[in-house]
Amino acid sequence: MPTVEIDGRKIEVPDGTTVMQAAERLAIEIPHYCWHPGLSIAGNCRMCLVDIEKSPKLQIACNTRVTEGMVVSTTSEKTRVAQKAVLELLLLNHPIDCPICDQAGECKLQEYYMDYDRQRSRIDLPDKVRKKKAKAIGPLVMLDQERCVLCSRCVRFCDEITHTSELGFYSRGNHTELDVAPGRTLDNPYSGNVVDVCPVGALTSRDFRFQARVWYLDRFDSVCGACANGCNIHVYQREDRIYRFQPRENQAVNQFWMCDAGRLSYHGLQGEGRLAQAFWRTDGGFETASLPSAVRVVAGKLQDLAKAHGAGAVGILASAQSPNEELYLLRRLAARLSARLAGISWSPPDAFHDDFLIKADKNPNTKGLALQGIATNGAADELLRAAADGGLQALVLHRCDLTAWKGDAARSALERVPYLVVLDTDRRETAQFASVVLPIGTYVESDGTFTNHAGRVQRFLRAVAPPGEALPGWQVLAQLIAAVTAETPVESAAAVFDALAAEAPAFRGLSWDMLGEGGQAAGTAVDSPSATLA
Ligand code: SF4
Ligand code: SF4
Ligand code: FES
Repeated sequence: MPTVEIDGRKIEVPDGTTVMQAAERLAIEIPHYCWHPGLSIAGNCRMCLVDIEKSPKLQIACNTRVTEGMVVSTTSEKTRVAQKAVLELLLLNHPIDCPICDQAGECKLQEYYMDYDRQRSRIDLPDKVRKKKAKAIGPLVMLDQERCVLCSRCVRFCDEITHTSELGFYSRGNHTELDVAPGRTLDNPYSGNVVDVCPVGALTSRDFRFQARVWYLDRFDSVCGACANGCNIHVYQREDRIYRFQPRENQAVNQFWMCDAGRLSYHGLQGEGRLAQAFWRTDGGFETASLPSAVRVVAGKLQDLAKAHGAGAVGILASAQSPNEELYLLRRLAARLSARLAGISWSPPDAFHDDFLIKADKNPNTKGLALQGIATNGAADELLRAAADGGLQALVLHRCDLTAWKGDAARSALERVPYLVVLDTDRRETAQFASVVLPIGTYVESDGTFTNHAGRVQRFLRAVAPPGEALPGWQVLAQLIAAVTAETPVESAAAVFDALAAEAPAFRGLSWDMLGEGGQAAGTAVDSPSATLA
């Protein structure tokens, strides 16, 4: 464990630590372009040069290992001269089109110019080497060769992470340019990550570019809900509209990356078909209703039917799209109504998956269903058969696109249900069969947790407000239970999770606060806890 001194501050670090990593631990910034913690060390940009005592020449911090007693300066006169010189070289042929560049506001050329350079160009604009601008190199990625600082992060991503090697450098000297290999396009399932790793505006997202200036966006921690992997993400929003998803580092789940399908999945969360109001069926069709009154009516009707027809008269179907908190509250509701509860986890039969991040299970919480002891799929089929045979007086569908998943079997079952309650985010065919429709938020409109395929319980935070009168799913269910039990509704998703952790063996020992930013592994003990719920 060598001790190193950087800018007068000492730190002991494990053997093999680089000067860059040691400085990061001390929160000392060493400017860099080519170094990225998820990629091999290239050492080609020279932006990270530092002054090391006893070394006659400046050394690159990204590829110099700390040795016992090493003394480093990141601010010496020699270092400052080098930083300025490197930036001048990188900017020599740069087009300086910041006002029209989509990277403005999060560009390392802009930031480092202001922090380390601030000198005028010694080359006039017309004399600069011109390269291709706005070249679409794949479905998600736009290339501007003039802005590239040749750091090779994107090349290494395609070589080392996806092993697809679409990108490379071509020509020599001032004319060196980043491009796709002849005849190739950048269309691997993880292509959007090259935009994230590019430190400048050379690679931008065709989905996000020119949609919003980044300084207008607010960022929230979340978890991708598009498959069972549960990649950690940042949600960027402005005025309750989501503009982009970007990966958030979690070494236990997705390292630094996410897939393109997950990255684009935010579009599906804010489509035209969102439910913003409650509806109930009348003789003349559907009428809008206020959410609180619809919840009261549903609670009263379910209670009456359960009382009149006994245990099993009400069925509840919960999908693996539901967060843990909603599943817990559905279990409580089922216990109160002596209802039959089943889970459903549906994915397209030919869903794409690989052995890296992308899972065939396109639900974020199939594991959560299992860990709460909710029998899934076979039990859902049984429930639908009971409905089709006229054996159910009422059915509650929670986040179930049932007709899309089960086709005519669902249609004929739903037609036979005397009282059908649909809790959903969007207008779907299933709602056509409903007696009452209650609008609920998507996961980005709610606090909550998902349990990923590996049993990791991960928190997501509300990034945007649900549309209209819709509320987070846990809140609608809490109000429904409160109307059934005449108790005060629980007030936060955190409180629901803590109640779940206190009750369900698989979640025991966890708490909302303990989950932190990176989540925690759930226990493996699984039993059926419904009997303990009241
Ligand atoms: S396009 Fe971006 S990531 Fe790729 S080499 Fe150029 S500056 Fe680096
Ligand atoms: S791998 Fe799954 S969880 Fe990760 S970004 Fe893609 S869809 Fe989302
Ligand atoms: S970051 Fe060290 S040489 Fe590029």
